[in-house]
Amino acid sequence: MKALVYYGDHNIALEERPKPTIIKPTDVIVKVLKTTICGTDLGIYKGKNPEIESGRILGHEGVGIIEEVGDSVSQFKKGDKALISCITSCGSCEYCKKQMYAHCKDGGWILGYMIDGVQAEYVRIPHADNSLHRIPENMDDEIAVLLSDILPTGHEIGVQYGNVKPGDEIAIVGAGPVGMSVLLTAQFYSPSKIIMIDLDDNRLKLAKELGATHTINSGTTNVEEAVKKIVGDDGVDVVIEAVGIPTTWNICQNIIKPGAHIANVGVHGKKVDFEIQKLWIKNLTITTGLVNTNTTPMLLKTVSANNMDLKKMITHHFPLSELEHAYQVFLNGAEEKAMKIIINNE
Ligand SMILES: NC(=O)c1ccc[n+]([C@@H]2O[C@H](COP(=O)([O-])OP(=O)(O)OC[C@H]3O[C@@H](n4cnc5c(N)ncnc54)[C@H](O)[C@@H]3O)[C@@H](O)[C@H]2O)c1
Ligand SMILES: [Zn+2]
Ligand SMILES: [Zn+2]
Repeated sequence: MKALVYYGDHNIALEERPKPTIIKPTDVIVKVLKTTICGTDLGIYKGKNPEIESGRILGHEGVGIIEEVGDSVSQFKKGDKALISCITSCGSCEYCKKQMYAHCKDGGWILGYMIDGVQAEYVRIPHADNSLHRIPENMDDEIAVLLSDILPTGHEIGVQYGNVKPGDEIAIVGAGPVGMSVLLTAQFYSPSKIIMIDLDDNRLKLAKELGATHTINSGTTNVEEAVKKIVGDDGVDVVIEAVGIPTTWNICQNIIKPGAHIANVGVHGKKVDFEIQKLWIKNLTITTGLVNTNTTPMLLKTVSANNMDLKKMITHHFPLSELEHAYQVFLNGAEEKAMKIIINNE
């Protein structure tokens, strides 16, 4: 089968690899119909995760048809369509029992990281009963792909951990697919102002269409001054970091009012400076985390019942054979006007 293989910093290749087989009775083999590239995959490509073994197949988001089922899988059968969660979970360990699936003792984020992933014709999914979801009848497969990772990530690690409440004035730093997912799911909780901050005017324009009340280009504007003009001198109630670099962390810690929440979603490859000498007095709450996907079933229901404009996030389609090129398009998101890219396997 064809698969996108990681060989280290800036070194990926689309290659022929053997089709995966069932290893444990809780596994299934899924024929991948649609997958995509995550900002995290770009991070891996750029060398943020040197812990990944050379030869690993990347990818942790997708939709597929079940091809083969392990003996103890009870919720899925051959021929079923399923959403692949970016998080694998056993359902019975200490963390799974607390719905902290991200920290499952025999799972968590392993797909396309510690085990071979979804950017391939076939993928082995461990603990299939807990790690796959049924897709509502009326949901488009491409929309479903957005629920593997970005929508639950934005909702759980951005909006829920940030404790976005009715009337809040919030800011989101990073208008990539994850930041846009924060933007869409924050609106469940009716904040009064949503400020989107990014370097890419095209993404900021889309953010306006998806519900941002204000946008700031941090490459051309002094963000602190601009935020003060919108919400007053004190700053915002909640800021969500959805990039994962020191510059954007600094934006977050400079625009918050007393009692605020900083919800960090970005995956960081470098340390940041936390200005505790200025911030100790602010009664802040800072949260971090890997998506648990505990809200995925709720999001599947909400998205299938409401028109959430999710299609607007999908800008490009490529066949699996052009996946290397698709990485370059997503890497040059601003020039290519790219947001979420769907990779078709049919
Ligand atoms: N915590 C989790 O569970 C989790 C899950 C998925 C993704 N992530 C992380 O979320 C982050 C965002 O993912 P994505 O897919 O949206 O990535 P992306 O690369 O598509 O988007 C990042 C955005 O940040 C903007 N940006 C870059 N530098 C900036 C700067 N200096 N100032 C303002 N904006 C800047 C870019 O223009 C881009 O729009 C990544 O770090 C990813 O690894 C975390
Ligand atoms: Zn991801
Ligand atoms: Zn577990």
